Amino acid sequence: MKKNSTEWISIGTVLGDTNIDTFFFNLKNHKAKKGDIVTTESKVPTEEGKVVPVTVWGKITSIESTNQFFPREAAQELTNSNIDIRDTILPTTRDELICKVLILGYTNNLDINNINRLLPLNYPVRPAANVKYPASEEVQKMLITSLNSKHPIFIGSLLARAAVKIRVDADNLVSRHFLITGMSGSGKTVFVRRLIAEMLKLLFPCLVLDIHGDYLGFVQKQKKFFPNNKIKLFYPKLSVNSEDKEIIYTLIQKLGKSLTDPQNDYLNTLLERIDYENGASIVEYINLLVARSRDFITERNSNTKGRSNGFSHFKASTMYVVTRSLREVSKKLVKMEQTNFKHRNKMKNLNFEELPDPVSEPEKIISKGQLSILYLKGYESLPASAIVSILLEALFSHRQEIQEEIPPFLTIIEEAHNFIPSRAENKDNLPSVDTIRRLISEGRKFGTGIAIVSQQPNRLDSTIVAQCNSQIFFRIKNQSNQRFVRETSEYADKDDTNQLPNLANGQAIICGQIVNFSLPVQIQFDEHLLNDDIGNEDFISTVDKWNDKESVKQRKKFAKAFSNISDNDIRRPH
Ligand SMILES: Nc1ncnc2c1ncn2[C@@H]1O[C@H](COP(=O)(O)OP(=O)(O)OP(=O)(O)O)[C@@H](O)[C@H]1O
Ligand SMILES: [Mg+2]
Repeated sequence: MKKNSTEWISIGTVLGDTNIDTFFFNLKNHKAKKGDIVTTESKVPTEEGKVVPVTVWGKITSIESTNQFFPREAAQELTNSNIDIRDTILPTTRDELICKVLILGYTNNLDINNINRLLPLNYPVRPAANVKYPASEEVQKMLITSLNSKHPIFIGSLLARAAVKIRVDADNLVSRHFLITGMSGSGKTVFVRRLIAEMLKLLFPCLVLDIHGDYLGFVQKQKKFFPNNKIKLFYPKLSVNSEDKEIIYTLIQKLGKSLTDPQNDYLNTLLERIDYENGASIVEYINLLVARSRDFITERNSNTKGRSNGFSHFKASTMYVVTRSLREVSKKLVKMEQTNFKHRNKMKNLNFEELPDPVSEPEKIISKGQLSILYLKGYESLPASAIVSILLEALFSHRQEIQEEIPPFLTIIEEAHNFIPSRAENKDNLPSVDTIRRLISEGRKFGTGIAIVSQQPNRLDSTIVAQCNSQIFFRIKNQSNQRFVRETSEYADKDDTNQLPNLANGQAIICGQIVNFSLPVQIQFDEHLLNDDIGNEDFISTVDKWNDKESVKQRKKFAKAFSNISDNDIRRPH
């Protein structure tokens, strides 16, 4: 390493047994913490048969403290006789601190051109060697050089050492897929906003599926913080395309009553007979189905001998049930649209646009430097899944075409268990599962990276999760989710996963291809990106400022007047 490594503070001594993966050392009191990066000088044989001095780098994964001069019996004696240890001759300063270090690799002290490049260690470290606490800038240099990234992006600092800034590799982030998980409130969305802020600087297009309005802060702050970007806010439109018959069928079948075989038969006949305009709204199409079905029923009932409209083999009751079910579906969809509208209406200062047709105008959704936010609040999982499936299928096929109409882009799927539930949970056969599975297995070639964000990784489709080659784990207390992390992540080591329940908000273990070894990180919190209109839920203040609406006041007044009348009524009941 550099000459100034002599200035690095000496913090301990390597213990007897060493190998090429780990070593233990005796730590001076309070000189390092779990998660810290430390070094020790060593020598390794080269391929040319020389022996070169190297600096071995490692991460403290655990610390244990023992005091051999303080046997258990002494503790028992102190407890029973109510004596303070300071009133005895027992030593209080002989605690032995033993650190376990996971070796990350070595840097060659003589190779001036590659002085910060980390190489895999192939010879054990020296027992009794000095362990040092490297300067923050040197740790940072080593991390960034060994990341070997063309586009490193800043996400936060090393958990154990705020002065060490951590960057991840943006190229890996957008060309592969990654999973962000942790319990509610642990910091997932704050992290995604940090990533988006960095991707926007690189003018990389991003698409976010936002259920709660967590990303609307970008729109509010666009002028001030993202003057070179376009930020678009869309509300969903369920539209039909000729290839989507399956989706319409699923939607009708799953949102309405469950249909018998003859009823399904009739529904199929309706779908086949009645054409729709490409890109038209599904609600309009379903209303058209209802109107035409009513006509068919009338025709069928008044059918004169010899004339057949092809429906005579259906019972009138079958046709009625299907028509009613279609009307219910249409009503449900309209209700969801209205709920979404109501939420949008609360944020009058924001400009929401109807989602453009991704087949004919994909560039309105994905273009260089643009962040597109699809605001899905109010939609149930099935229609939300259908919307996402139609959208992603269309965008993906544009990327597959030789004549690329849109640039590579990153999709962020918040509350992903709604779109890619595990096999056991996917009772509704959500159409987005197949779409995202396909995207995730083929997307690498076409630059359609996906970020999956969920509180419950064990409820996600396992095929999709297995394809995520970077993971960001925030606090996880739930046992089965912890087990899931241990079993699925090939990158996180046992000491990392043991730490998961104790992480605070905004602290995460980052592992996989976006970093070169797993790191505990304190994520940078961009407070300015919070959505001012929603903020954190503050129901107490809402009640404090509460004023009844005029209609409620009228009803209360009426109720009071009515109760006065009954109080004045002195007639005895009979
Ligand atoms: N890096 C951080 N630094 C400081 N505070 C943070 C950080 N990350 C999160 N927080 C705090 O925790 C709150 C919740 O974070 P966030 O919205 O990211 O949680 P989440 O994991 O997305 O939760 P949910 O699953 O409920 O959506 C933030 O509003 C903030 O107050
Ligand atoms: Mg969130």
